[in-house]
Parts: sequence; C-alpha cells; structure tokens
Amino acid sequence: MNPRLRIDADGVGHLAFRDPVRRQNILTHEVMEVLAEVVEEVEEAARGGALRALIVESAQPGSFIAGADVNAIAAIEDRQAATEASRAGQALFGRITTLPVPTVAAIRGICLGGGTELALACDYRVADNDDRTRIGLPEVLLGILPGWGGTTRLPGLVGLSAALDLMLSGKPARFSKARRIGLVDRVLPRQQFEQRCLALARALARGESPRGKRARRTLASRFLDGTTPGRALVFRAAARQVMKRTAGRYPAPLKILEVVRRGLSRPVAERLELEARAVGELAVSPECKNLLFVFQLREAARKGPWAGGGRAARVERLAVIGAGPMGGGIAQVAAYRDIPVRMKDIRHEAVAGGLAFARSLFDGAVGRRSLRPREAARRMALITGGVDYAGVRRADVVVEAVVEKMAVKEAVLREVEAVVGAGAVIASNTSSLSIDRMATVLDHPERFAGMHFFNPVHRMPLVEVVRGAKTGDDAVETLATLSVRLGKVPVVTADAPGFLVNRVLGPCLNEAGHLLDEGWDARAVDRAWKRFGMPMGPYRLMDEIGLDVMGHAGSTMAEAFGDRMAPAASLAALAGSGRVGRKGGRGFYLYAKGREKAFDPTVYGDMNLSSVRARPEPDHVRDRLVLVMINEAARVLEEGIVASAADVDLGMVMGTGFPPFRGGLLKYADDRGAAEVAGAMEALSKSCGSRYEPSALVAELARTGGIFHEAFPATRQPS
Ligand code: NAI
Repeated sequence: MNPRLRIDADGVGHLAFRDPVRRQNILTHEVMEVLAEVVEEVEEAARGGALRALIVESAQPGSFIAGADVNAIAAIEDRQAATEASRAGQALFGRITTLPVPTVAAIRGICLGGGTELALACDYRVADNDDRTRIGLPEVLLGILPGWGGTTRLPGLVGLSAALDLMLSGKPARFSKARRIGLVDRVLPRQQFEQRCLALARALARGESPRGKRARRTLASRFLDGTTPGRALVFRAAARQVMKRTAGRYPAPLKILEVVRRGLSRPVAERLELEARAVGELAVSPECKNLLFVFQLREAARKGPWAGGGRAARVERLAVIGAGPMGGGIAQVAAYRDIPVRMKDIRHEAVAGGLAFARSLFDGAVGRRSLRPREAARRMALITGGVDYAGVRRADVVVEAVVEKMAVKEAVLREVEAVVGAGAVIASNTSSLSIDRMATVLDHPERFAGMHFFNPVHRMPLVEVVRGAKTGDDAVETLATLSVRLGKVPVVTADAPGFLVNRVLGPCLNEAGHLLDEGWDARAVDRAWKRFGMPMGPYRLMDEIGLDVMGHAGSTMAEAFGDRMAPAASLAALAGSGRVGRKGGRGFYLYAKGREKAFDPTVYGDMNLSSVRARPEPDHVRDRLVLVMINEAARVLEEGIVASAADVDLGMVMGTGFPPFRGGLLKYADDRGAAEVAGAMEALSKSCGSRYEPSALVAELARTGGIFHEAFPATRQPS
C-alpha cells in the first residue's frame, strides 16, 4: 500500500509515501485513493485517542513527493472533470487540515506541486538541510495553477509577494530560502532528521508549541503584504513582470494573479472554489496541453535507451580539449554535476581564461543563491587545466572543443586517440564540420561521435549527439547518458550539415534576409516573430549568433543543399561589411557593454538596401518564417537525420526557444493540419520562390490527412 500508516508506541502516526516502482513519489489517482483511506484511518485513530500526532513523510530517498500525475492532467479533456479533480484533492487535503491532532510534513528531497500542497495542509513543515531538497509549485510551467489548495493557502503562510514569486516563477526554493520566507517552520540537520521530527511531533502531541515558528518580516514586507495599497503595488509589479516575461501568451500566470487577487478578501471555501474553476479553465487550454506535451517529450528523451543494444560507460572523469567559451562552459557544467574535468589548451593564457570563465559561472550561481560558496569552491576545484595531455589519459570521455577548423580538429583527435585508454569515448563539439570526415583519421571510429552543445552551455538545455556512419551504439549511449547527467536533453542525429537544429533554423534566418530584400521593415519583422512567441526576432538572433558566423554557416548550407538555401543578397552583403553583431557592438542593432541599445537604420545601407521600408502583416511574417522551417524539418525526417517528430520538436524548443506553448514546430504544423500547411506553402511558392514547394513528406501528409507525430512517432531510436 502506498502510502501507509504506522502508529508507534507513543501514539505518533507515520504516514509514509513510497512508490513501489518509480524513483519519485507521485500523487497518482491510485495514491490519492489510498491516501483517502489512510486519512480515514487517521481520523478514527485520532478520535479514539490512539493517535496523538501525525508525521507525513517519505520512505523514498531523495523524494518527498514530486507532484501530481502529469499524464493524468494531460489526459483531461473536459473542463468540468478538471474542476472536479481539483475539488476532490482540495477536499482530501482539507480533511488533513481539520484533523484533531497536530500534523507535521517532514520534507526531504524533492517536494513539488501536489506534494507542496499536501505539506501546506499540515500544521508544521520541516525540511532537512540537504542541498538537493527543493520545495516549490511549478504548475505554472505546465500551464496550470496549484489546484489542491496551494493558491489559497500559500499567501497566508509566506505573505503575498513571496507566494506570487513561488507560483509565478515555478522555481523551487532551497531549504534556506524556504525557511527565510516561512514556507517551512524549521530546518533540521540531515543526520538527525528522523529523531528531531519525532521529538517535534511528541512535543506537539503534549500540547507544547515549538518556538521559532514565524519567519521574521521586515517593515517593507509588512507594508506590501499586509495593507491594501501595499498589495495593490505587489499585484501591479507582478503583473508587469508576467507581461514582460510572457507577453500575455501564457494564460496560467495571469490566472494565478486573478485567483489570488479575487480570493484575498474571501472566506477559504470561496477561494478554493475560485481555484478549482481556474483549474478547469486552464487544464483544457491549448497552451496547457502543449506545455504538457513538451514536458512529456522531454521526460521521454531523458530516459533512453538512445541506441538499441548500446551500453553506456560510467563516466568518472571528463577531459575537454580547447578552453574557449565552449570548452570552459562544458567543463563548468560537468564540475557542477560533480564530474572531475581536465581542460587542455595549447596556450597557458587560454587555460587560465577557461578556468576564469568557469569560475565566473560558479560565482553567478552563488550570487543567485543557488549554490553555497563552499559548494561552489569544491566543485570549481574539480576542474584542472594544462597545456599537456597529462590528465587527459585517464578520462572516460574526451570532448574536443578547439577552433572550428577541420585540419586542427583532425590533428587534435589523432593526438587524443593516441593517449586515451581503450574504453574512452571521443566526441567533437563541432557545430558545422562532418563527423564522418573527422572519423577517417581515427583508428577506432566506432568510439567517436559528435556532441554538439549550444552556446551558452550552462543555459542551453539541448545536446545533439551526432552519430557518424561508423559510430558504435555504446558511444552514442555513453554520450547521451552523460548529457542527461549534465542536466541536458539529448537528441540523437545523423551526421549531415547543420545536424538538426541549425539545419532547420538556417532557412528561417535566411528567409528573414529575403524579407529584407523584398523591402520589409526589419523591426516590424522582429516584432512579428516575437509576437508568434519566439524569444527574439530573426535579426536580433543573428546579432546574437554573430554576423560573421552567420555568413560562414550560410555558405556552408548553400553548398550542401543548393538553391533553396542560397544566401539572401542582403545577408551576403552584410557578411563582408565588418558588422559582426552583439559581440562587436554593432549589427542590426547597436550594443553598449553587450546590451542592446537601439536598432541601427544605417544597416540597410550596408546591405545595399533603401531605408524606405514597408510594414508586413504579422501573419505573413509568421508564415514566411515558420513554413520554411516545417518544410526543412520534414526533409530532415525523410532523410532519417532524426528518428521522430518528437526529436524535431524538442530540438527546436530546447535549441532555439520555439514557443513551448505551441508544443513544438511539428506539433504546430499538426495543429494547423497538413493540408492547410501545404496549401499555404504552395501559395508562397508562387509568390516567393520554389523553396516553398511542399516537400514530399508534407505533400504526402496533406494528401492522406496524416500528421507528423503519428507518421514519425517517438521511438527514441534512430534507424
Ligand atoms: P574558440 O575558438 O573561442 O576557442 C577554441 C580554443 O581552442 C582556444 O582557446 C584555442 O587556443 C584552443 N585550441 C586551438 N587549437 C588547439 C589545439 N590544437 N589543442 C588544444 N586547444 C586548441 O572556440 P569556441 O567558441 O569555444 O568553440 C569551440 C568549438 O565549439 C568549435 O568547434 C565551435 O564550432 C564549436 N561550437 C561553438 C559554439 C559557439 O556558439 N561558440 C556553439 C556550438 C559549438
């Protein structure tokens, strides 16, 4: 039975969760049913006097409760059913709040969503002081809100501002923050956690009230959270933040604000009802469905296996060759996850630079309070560097991240192969060179593959594991498993120019060039693309990538794929203009100290274009940019570069910021319908050029009424 109840000799009840299969406790429908029975037992025992206090705990290491069952939320199709499910959970947790005995939530490890709401229903919350313990309400990230009493109970406990911060960001708090804001009443040392919880429960059972319960509030927070004008300020600031972050595209944070605001002056029962109705509205919204869809794709992609029959080698040590921003970044994420790293470069200054870069990232984590200074120092010490191969010999995986030049890479790979052990896997972080070509210089190409990280490494959640023609299953499995350990989502691709993400993004950026050639206004195009939900417009993105890099990538792609990727005249002109984008302070926009200042209209002159510009319809921009990507993604599937539509969608969401509320590029195409997509492409092919002619796959799906995600389901294993 999960959960189960045990009452000890002193009359302290232990309500313990332990999922028999999963590594995390999840509040599935079955678990909630059992919980209802157990709560009944508790009620009886309390009435009969056999039970005097209750501890709600987990018997699962590292996991208190990770939340409700995401698949169940995804399956809800009916608004009323969602509201009912919310009411049922609220009622059950409500019974816990009204138990006649004191209740303590004993939180160790991950405590999220429904788990946090269960803890909120208890009288006391204690957490251990483990760095992995995290308490939060991430519902907003899945397009819903805390619907089992969370939005109702949290503001009263931690104050309005802290409550909104937790619920709107979805970011879980470490034990120290949880204590500071009053989300937990006490932090107990890890080693004595059980005894101390028990002592607390016994004290409560004796009617003692433990000291130090309330978190201290500053004068400012008492004004903001406790007075009508203060609260109005808090709501206004929170709403502004939400609009800035989401441009109003995500209904959940707006709904959270509304439910909390309307509930403030009402009795609990009414607040719960507001919450339940909001769950009903949100759970059936397309945004929620799409966010859950992406979440499920992501979870599946992190599970593996990634190569049929492959076995992942255990990675005890990593080596990185090349200490530039990529090498330094890769070393830092590895050390962050407790993997010792050796960084090798040819110049001492470069090694020092790579180490300094990694240190600055750790400093940032300390600044954001996501890491204690001592922990940051310990992990930083896992990185060593040098100009010789000393520490590289013992590495289980070596990632090459030297300059993007084939001859240099070949020489380095040969050197690496000569020093490493027979079991080591060698990877190249190239973004545009052929893995198969590099493999020709190696004696053992079967243990070589691409491992394409994105820039900046510590932020970008995607890794393309590039499988060359001779790459063995074990190498793929090892690199994909390592990617997951580094906190990334791996997508396995075949070796072809641009792999997945740059191949699909390339035509979109080039199309933005064609739009300029046709006389459209760059700023209006950037705005329209952001309105579609992208994090930035195409020109702003090119500035970020670097116009020199863009020029180089553009000609590589044109060489590989011919006419349909021939660089737009404007972009070709720009490549030689000396403007390089943000890093040089000048691109489409002007930058000061790396920050965007203003659009620079003189850029038109550098592209030999008139600065008299017309404003396009946003829908035209959307179709121009998104349809070329869909067409290219279809070719990527046809050619077997990736195995599934899920891979494409994950790659584009994680690698380019394609709006998650749209579910991904091909989910968006599936939602529009292949016939409509093909029709729009055909229309554009007449006005803009043959590159819009629907690819064979798009035409086929349009003819048969098929959808990408069914035609190329997530098997997770490329053929
Ligand atoms: P970078 O050019 O800034 O740094 C490369 C480092 O490699 C330099 O410190 C250089 O001294 C060192 N190096 C050169 N020859 C070497 C040798 N024989 N042995 C050891 N070290 C050597 O390059 P960055 O930006 O760090 O990129 C590295 C690789 O990652 C390139 O292949 C690049 O295409 C790829 N990449 C870059 C991305 C980016 O946005 N910067 C994104 C994804 C991949």
